Amino acid sequence: MTQVISVLGTKGGTSKTTTTIMLATALASKGKRVLVLDSDLQRDALEWAERAGKEIGFTAKATPTTQTLNTALARNSSADLDYIIVDTPPGSNSIINAAATSSDLALIPTGVSDGEIRQVQKLIDSLAGSGTPIAIVLSNVDKRVKDGRILHESLQAHERAAVADALIPMRNAIRKSYFKLPQITTKPFAECMELAEEIESALAQMK
Ligand SMILES: Nc1ncnc2c1ncn2[C@@H]1O[C@H](COP(=O)(O)OP(=O)(O)O)[C@@H](O)[C@H]1O
Ligand SMILES: [Mg+2]
Repeated sequence: MTQVISVLGTKGGTSKTTTTIMLATALASKGKRVLVLDSDLQRDALEWAERAGKEIGFTAKATPTTQTLNTALARNSSADLDYIIVDTPPGSNSIINAAATSSDLALIPTGVSDGEIRQVQKLIDSLAGSGTPIAIVLSNVDKRVKDGRILHESLQAHERAAVADALIPMRNAIRKSYFKLPQITTKPFAECMELAEEIESALAQMK
């Protein structure tokens, strides 16, 4: 059975594309069959996969409209795939709702500032109707700042969304891997691998 993970956020620059690619690369490195659907008109995820080359271990397709996304999801869910990961544009348009509704898990990467957390809260509220399980992952977090850990702990008590144990730190190696092949099994990407493992076991329980 193919399981669908959508990566959502209402703002640009919240690490959606980075999370999509890290997750896809990590799962592929563990032998999983992964397809990335890029619903952002910017096509960063698609370009990233193309530029990184075959070694990245998964394929990516552009699905810039609700219709193309739904068609791709319907077509590929029966294919020999373990996971479909949908990267989405910022905003609050119908494509985000379509992605969330069709997903087994909606993943929301976010930074730790008050403004960012407020946006996440709004997004969670707007997704309430979809019934899709939601997980927040704190990303691009400056580890020198304590806020990340404190917030991580306080968010655990959130009613409607789970919080990933894995916290993705701000790292040059991650930033520099944009549009390149991430050396996913090396130390700077350890938390990305942890996130993939956590998501896999959460999804396995939902099957
Ligand atoms: N863990 C991280 N460490 C360092 N830089 C990061 C990390 N996550 C994201 N970034 C950087 O933040 C910027 C925005 O990330 P991106 O994934 O493109 O966000 P979005 O897709 O939500 O717009 C990019 O320059 C990216 O390299
Ligand atoms: Mg993006």
